[in-house]
Amino acid sequence: MTGKTDLQNADARSSPSESRRSFLAALLGVGSVFIAALLSVPLIRFALFPLIRRTTQLKGSPVGDLSEFTSSIEPVMRTIQIEQVDGWRKAISEKAVYVTKDNQGQLRVLTSICPHLGCTVPWNKEKKQFVCPCHGGTFAPDGSRVSGPSLRGIDTLETSVENGQLLVQFQYFRQLVSDKEVIG
Ligand code: FES
Repeated sequence: MTGKTDLQNADARSSPSESRRSFLAALLGVGSVFIAALLSVPLIRFALFPLIRRTTQLKGSPVGDLSEFTSSIEPVMRTIQIEQVDGWRKAISEKAVYVTKDNQGQLRVLTSICPHLGCTVPWNKEKKQFVCPCHGGTFAPDGSRVSGPSLRGIDTLETSVENGQLLVQFQYFRQLVSDKEVIG
C-alpha cells in the first residue's frame, strides 16, 4: 500500500516534464510529416512526369528548304527523323514522307503509310499515282483516293515554315476508317 502511494507521488511529480516531452515529440512528428510531404512533391512529379507526358513527336522535323519543292511537278520523297518519347524511353526513327501540292498549288506533306492496312505506298512515276503494293489502292498526286480498298486518301501531316525550312509534325492515323483520326 505504501509502495503504491510512493509510485503515485512519483507520477504526480514527473507529470509536467513528461507532458512537455510528449508535446515536443508530437510537434516533431507533425513537423517531420510536413517536411516529408513537402519534399516528396518534386520527387513524385519527377517519377511520374514521363508517364503523363504525351508520347507523340514533340517538335517538327525538318523536311528541306522550301525552294527545293516550289518548282516540283510531282511528289518528292524525303526521309525525316522523328523523336518520340514513350514513358522513360526516347526513340529516334526515320520515316518517309512525300512533299506534294494540293489543287491550289499549295505545298502539303503526306505520310507514306497506306490508310487501308498500313503498307508503305510508293509514288509510281509511270502511272503518275501512288500505288499501294499490298492491295492495289491508288491515290492521286495530292494524296486523294482514286481506287482500291482504302476508305480515304493518304493522310496529310501538319506543316510549318521556319527560316525558309519546311517542318513537319509526324503522326500516326487510324486505318480502315473513312475519317482521319490521330492515334499517336
Ligand atoms: S494496305 Fe494499301 S491498299 Fe491495302
